Amino acid sequence: MNIMVTGSDGQLGSEFRLVAARYPQWSFYFFNHHDLDISVEETVAERMRECKCDVVINCAAFTSVDKAEEDSFLSYRVNRDGAAVVARCAKGQNVLLIHISTYYVFDGLAEKPYRETDEMRPKGVYAQSKFEGEELIRSSGASYIIIRTGWLYSFFGQNFMKTMLHLGGERESLNVVSDRVGTPTYAGDLAAAVLTMLGQVDLKKTYAATYHYTNEGVCSWYDFAVAIMSLSKSPCRVMPIESSAFPVLGPRPQYSVLNNGLIKRDWGLEIPHWQASLAEMLETIRRDTTG
Ligand SMILES: NC(=O)c1ccc[n+]([C@@H]2O[C@H](COP(=O)([O-])OP(=O)(O)OC[C@H]3O[C@@H](n4cnc5c(N)ncnc54)[C@H](OP(=O)(O)O)[C@@H]3O)[C@@H](O)[C@H]2O)c1
Repeated sequence: MNIMVTGSDGQLGSEFRLVAARYPQWSFYFFNHHDLDISVEETVAERMRECKCDVVINCAAFTSVDKAEEDSFLSYRVNRDGAAVVARCAKGQNVLLIHISTYYVFDGLAEKPYRETDEMRPKGVYAQSKFEGEELIRSSGASYIIIRTGWLYSFFGQNFMKTMLHLGGERESLNVVSDRVGTPTYAGDLAAAVLTMLGQVDLKKTYAATYHYTNEGVCSWYDFAVAIMSLSKSPCRVMPIESSAFPVLGPRPQYSVLNNGLIKRDWGLEIPHWQASLAEMLETIRRDTTG
């Protein structure tokens, strides 16, 4: 199987590079933003042809929720138009598209974990652009699997875990919002899950599926920060604050818990709890830094 990964220098794309080493029987082609702009159709089509691509994993996205409010053109160009370009090329060359999406397609007002079939009500430019990207994939005629996730963290790129580790090393205390809940998700777990799924796909079939994948469990950003400080043995005290005390440009869903039931059932996935994955990640960082 020939697998192409876009946005390969981002958090998730970089984790795919690591997990790919477990699949020597497959050929992986990684393209970062510089190598391949997903909004340029001729280039996407050309790269797919060159790779004799069977599957494209689209990790490319404009992911800054605040910057999207300031630069809606770019957000739509990547998250909506780029997704549509990848889908059109996938359809044209009979390639299975795995597309990564987000809990932002929901309004965050639910009181129980979102299912794939729940009504989408995106708020803000990032959310709307990701929602429209999903919809254009669904109407493209391509064989696709959309996977919505949330609260990604990784060794790579910019993320909350790395910010907390950094601040934990230099601050005595820190305020973190306690009234937004979701599930921290190790991007490496998601990458591993996608490749487990690819081990089961039938490329002769046409897929038209949407799934949710996060680590298991629920917490607030405050709980997540407390766990990071505790596991990394930082003396930094974390204080809970309300999100209204911490204004941001782009709207954030208050409740972003996703129900993983469907992806577990259809693909037999065992999904780790967020605390277990975080502990493992921080232990790896500790081993790497202490030799
Ligand atoms: N991070 C989260 O918490 C989170 C939560 C839910 C869903 N997701 C979704 O998960 C996916 C992966 O996110 P991530 O955290 O890995 O994001 P990321 O670290 O921001 O990586 C995205 C990558 O896409 C690249 N990119 C941007 N525009 C591009 C274009 N036109 N063509 C090709 N590449 C382009 C970026 O390159 P540059 O840096 O050079 O622009 C970056 O390397 C995204 O679809 C995102 O919407 C993320």
